[in-house]
Amino acid sequence: MKINRYVDISTIDREAKKDYIDRHSPFIHCGDKATAGEKFKVTVKMGDEYPHPDDFDHYIAWVQLWNGEMMLAQTTFPPGTLGNQAGHVEVDFHIVPKKNMKLTAMSFCTKHGLWQSEEVVVEVG
Ligand SMILES: [Fe+2]
Repeated sequence: MKINRYVDISTIDREAKKDYIDRHSPFIHCGDKATAGEKFKVTVKMGDEYPHPDDFDHYIAWVQLWNGEMMLAQTTFPPGTLGNQAGHVEVDFHIVPKKNMKLTAMSFCTKHGLWQSEEVVVEVG
């Protein structure tokens, strides 16, 4: 399956394309430092500026969190999580890191496929 990778939408002129990219992109929100062996919260939120539909035939079906090539966590959503209104699907993962991480998130839209976030580096001490 093709992986769509995040592109900084400030570099894109067309409003419709900015909307398309932003609403399908997972964004990782977490601290840049963590303590080895202790629980660390990583929030993944879909879209930054533009909401994604939550329709029965078009919704965000899952979100995954990866460290390099290892999947750390995954959650799935049925349609209706956001009350069938456009919005930002959001999930908190609590992981226990051992050493430095390079986090990425993947998400899947039932109409528009697979999307990957930018990488976030977390220093683990
Ligand atoms: Fe979509």
